[in-house]
Amino acid sequence: MTMPASTHGQQSRPLALRGPVLTFTGDPFRDGLERTMVHEPDGMVVMADGRITRFGPAGQVAAELPAGTDIVDYGKDSLISAGFVDCHVHFPQTPMIAAYGAQLLEWLETYTFPTELKFADRGYARSVARVFLRECLRNGVTTSCVYCTVHPHSVDVLFEEAEALGLRLAAGKVLMDCNAPDGLRDTAQSGYDDSAALIARWHGRGRLLYAITPRFAGTSSPEQLAAAGALWRAHGDCLMQTHIAETRAEVAWIREQFPDRRHYLDVYDHHGLCGRRAVFGHGIWLEDDELQRLHGSGAAIAHCPTSNFFLGSGAFDLTRALDPARPIRVGLGTDIGAGTSFSILATLGAAYKAAQLNGHALSAGHAYYLSTRGSARALYLEDRIGSIAPGMEADLVVLDMRSTPLIDFRMNQARDFAEQLFVQMTLGDDRAVRATYVAGRLAHQRAS
Ligand code: GUN
Ligand code: ZN
Repeated sequence: MTMPASTHGQQSRPLALRGPVLTFTGDPFRDGLERTMVHEPDGMVVMADGRITRFGPAGQVAAELPAGTDIVDYGKDSLISAGFVDCHVHFPQTPMIAAYGAQLLEWLETYTFPTELKFADRGYARSVARVFLRECLRNGVTTSCVYCTVHPHSVDVLFEEAEALGLRLAAGKVLMDCNAPDGLRDTAQSGYDDSAALIARWHGRGRLLYAITPRFAGTSSPEQLAAAGALWRAHGDCLMQTHIAETRAEVAWIREQFPDRRHYLDVYDHHGLCGRRAVFGHGIWLEDDELQRLHGSGAAIAHCPTSNFFLGSGAFDLTRALDPARPIRVGLGTDIGAGTSFSILATLGAAYKAAQLNGHALSAGHAYYLSTRGSARALYLEDRIGSIAPGMEADLVVLDMRSTPLIDFRMNQARDFAEQLFVQMTLGDDRAVRATYVAGRLAHQRAS
């Protein structure tokens, strides 16, 4: 196998990856897998200047390669896919993943807020950002939509580190002006001003995007929610991310806090915080009216199954959210540190179990769509990332389909590609990620 001589900033020659390829041309939940899933058993993906330039059967593409193209052949036991997209994750919670014994509201007070207080130290924030991005790449995640802490410099360090890697990434400073400890609160005005300054500094710089980030209605006053809505109106091409209806206790608490609002979503909607490019984390306990409004407004839900199981929050009903009468954009989130794995394969395995608890099976093809093109669509980025086609940004993950002895053994029994894929999302983890490419450059390679 020829390895490309490529480090960040130095690649000059086109690069072609060869191996089985999986990608999607549309939404299989809407149009069926037959019409949207592309599986090329011996494919070739060519990249140059950060973009995909060609994709097709290796026999055809190889015959037309530009002179001087480097070729990496990953072999038949690999799978080349668009890089995974994580729609909801908290980088500052990396140090507190696997915190024992509490459900959401108590978990926030006991573990989350004390951890996030440490991010007052910029050096600490940077060290965690580095670990976080390393884990993303080790798991084939090439785009994330990230919550930082209340400290503006937590956003700066994450964007600086992501920029150095050439990553496409969305992130924002958490807005939180009540029900949080001293040292973790901003004010409606300071949160607005700090976020506006971060938007001016980072939004649209290279591959970076700003996400206006009121943590959730429980930690923002009506004044702060209104300020966040005004900020989003002024910067409509930013994302907006928050949490909604994650646990029943939280829903009851928000109802008490906002008695004049019709339901949880109405708290956000009333303040101008519902629409295209809004990403609502969880949404397990939403009512039909709320789902209807999410559909009508073009907002998305980030489904975070490992988190939901870990905190005992519930099992998100994907089929209900995707009801063809009012389908909602749904992406997938790890929700580290309530989530228990950076692995998107493990997260898909959990999504399957959440679906089963609601009486539905989630096919592997549909699941892989969710973690790539579906999540890109939730972020309104499906024209740039999430699939393999000429013109798309060249973010790719290469899976090893036989990454453990058990998976190797199980793969020998698999009758078809669907079964092989399902084995990966049920048994696979970071060990299955052989290589990750960011903007056409090798950004992670598994130690052999
Ligand atoms: N709701 C408000 N903040 C958080 C958080 O940090 N994690 C999760 N899972 N839910 C939240
Ligand atoms: Zn979260």
